[in-house]
Amino acid sequence: GKVLSVASECVPLVKTGGLADVVGALPGALAPLGWDMRVLIPAYRRLLPQVRHWDEVFAEDDLFGGRGVVRRGEVEGFTLLALDAPHLFDREGGPYAGPDGKDWGDNHIRFAALSWVAARIGQAGLWDDWKPDLLHAHDWQAGFAPVYRQLLGGGNSVITVHNIAFQGWAAADQIGALRLPEWEFHAGSLEYYGGLSSLKAGLVWSDRITTVSPTYADELMRPEFGMGLEGVIAARAALVSGILNGVDTGVWSPEAEPLPFSAKAMKGKAANRAAICAEFGLSVDGPLAIVVSRLTDQKGIDLLPEVIPEFIEGGGGLIVLGSGAPELELAMHGLAARYPGRVAVRIGYDEGLSHRLFAGGDAVLVPSRFEPCGLTQMYGLRYGTIPVVAAVGGLADTVITANPMALASGTATGLTFHPTDAVAFGQALRRLLALYADGKTWAKLQKAAMAQPVGWEASAARYAALYEGLAG
Ligand code: ADP
Ligand code: GLC
Repeated sequence: GKVLSVASECVPLVKTGGLADVVGALPGALAPLGWDMRVLIPAYRRLLPQVRHWDEVFAEDDLFGGRGVVRRGEVEGFTLLALDAPHLFDREGGPYAGPDGKDWGDNHIRFAALSWVAARIGQAGLWDDWKPDLLHAHDWQAGFAPVYRQLLGGGNSVITVHNIAFQGWAAADQIGALRLPEWEFHAGSLEYYGGLSSLKAGLVWSDRITTVSPTYADELMRPEFGMGLEGVIAARAALVSGILNGVDTGVWSPEAEPLPFSAKAMKGKAANRAAICAEFGLSVDGPLAIVVSRLTDQKGIDLLPEVIPEFIEGGGGLIVLGSGAPELELAMHGLAARYPGRVAVRIGYDEGLSHRLFAGGDAVLVPSRFEPCGLTQMYGLRYGTIPVVAAVGGLADTVITANPMALASGTATGLTFHPTDAVAFGQALRRLLALYADGKTWAKLQKAAMAQPVGWEASAARYAALYEGLAG
């Protein structure tokens, strides 16, 4: 079958978070199961030059205020469709915000255009060479795609929620500009607290809803996590499923690092640790913890200044790689200044450094308040870099906490704590110090972590089964 996947980000071309990793991985994971998946994303400035050759597929003369051309190119292992609409996407800045960090005022229009084109690709007579049996929309940016697809007489759609915090809000008076029918402006359809939400629209108009972990699927139906959409999702509970993300085990492989190691040959990990300590001028006898993350409230980064002092006094060390909220960046710099030789901070985005950190670190900290899936705890498992995580969402689904029984039976792979606060987090770090001090137990924990399957196989099969049931 054929699936059109629609999103705002896709590795290896444009990424701000895990969404891009997942969208870029799905085509390769599904191909062996007989699914031909193509990915539609916007042609942001500097996107087109990253691919050697583009074919024009079709053009829309009036695409929300300008001309849009759908172009087709090949990237490592799959076919990409780029929406080249300069009036919407040829701008300096990121996918969602300008250089000043402020969201573009016309984001609802920009991503409605992407969604519109996605629905057009499914229309007969436009591009008969490749007609998708199914549309797979990701997050609010593609939320209107299932709506347009139904309105234009397309077919079935699936929507995946990667993060419910972003809902694609627009004022009610935009309904015409968005090419949506006024008579659908009611609470059972497009209306959302007096306005419009592309995510809500997608949740109501899709044939199936998925999210990126089983626990998050349950959480989404509760007010603490649903962020206003819990009722919409709960009303369709029978159509909701949680399918865990995988990681690209070719890219995230300790055997493939410059200083390679494996569960059987852990000496290389010590060499990586020494290298990273030297790189950052650190001298740490206890566990070396790492954080690789967007620095936002979601990720619980504000808890670090509360718990790290005791961890450092207990012999631990910390390296933080991330960027985000200015006050959190400042707080991280503050920690490094307070503990020279024990805490280091690198503000920025650095793929290469993140690999060195996972290879050399002893533990990865993920104290999220909510986490739909999370990828870094899985990198940690793969590299024997023990995940210390809040027991929410996908973190709860991927890490088995080291209580005495799980340790004795050899099933423990990390530490989980609950709730996400400084008391529980601090306790988990005390436990980490103790486990690390006990060499034999630590080795056992690492072994179990590294044996955990974190690839795409199981989840790809679940997506394939879902598609199978819808494509007919
Ligand atoms: P989210 O999508 O909420 O940010 P995920 O854990 O799903 O969280 O995905 C984050 C992805 O971005 C991971 O691949 C992680 O390694 C990467 N990442 C985040 N911050 C950085 C950074 N500063 N440098 C390099 N990679 C980063
Ligand atoms: C979102 C979530 C993250 C998830 C990623 C990919 O960015 O915050 O938990 O892993 O999407 O699904």
